Amino acid sequence: MITIPSVAPDSRLHLEFSNDRAPLTDLDAINRAVAEYGARLWPIDLGAAPKTIHKLLAQQALTPAESAQVRDHFLLSRQRLLQLIAEAGRKPQVPGGGELTTLDATNNVSYPQLYIVAAGFDYTRFDKFHVNAAHDGTGLDEILQLLSGVGIRILVQTPDQGTITLHVTTSESTGWIITYDGGHPHIGSLTGATPGTKLLVQGIGPAKW
Ligand SMILES: [Fe+2]
Repeated sequence: MITIPSVAPDSRLHLEFSNDRAPLTDLDAINRAVAEYGARLWPIDLGAAPKTIHKLLAQQALTPAESAQVRDHFLLSRQRLLQLIAEAGRKPQVPGGGELTTLDATNNVSYPQLYIVAAGFDYTRFDKFHVNAAHDGTGLDEILQLLSGVGIRILVQTPDQGTITLHVTTSESTGWIITYDGGHPHIGSLTGATPGTKLLVQGIGPAKW
């Protein structure tokens, strides 16, 4: 099995602003800064996961069965998703959360989706500011779990502070949950992510968007 190179021992966050505001690296400070846009982050204690899951997270590639095993281990329940959305200061886009399994009709990709970054694959299609919303304008609630890897970036266009960019790094012991309102312009970028990076995305609300 190929394993990804071990990442830095600490888990790192870095929030950059396109205006002249100084970058932030502290979780609480970052959460205060992104709260006004309905976004929030939480650490995931990966140490609590069983050994078999750890082993899979360290592998660069997974078979479909292994991928399903990782996905199913980390998938969040409706109750937990609603709790996270509430903690982020939002109301779910669809009362009660809406559909937990949804379809991105433009790209024909269904969610939840575990992205595993492959070496040499072109992920630039994600690198455009976009909104995820159904035809009637109902937005998507996006809940991401970064489970392994380095180099994921989340960009949010804000009405008052330009673009804010969050760089997220995992360690063997810590991953990250990130939620934001998919109905506002954003990018979840994989182009700088190390091969083997694993990102579990739950996009809930309208069945089709
Ligand atoms: Fe999106």
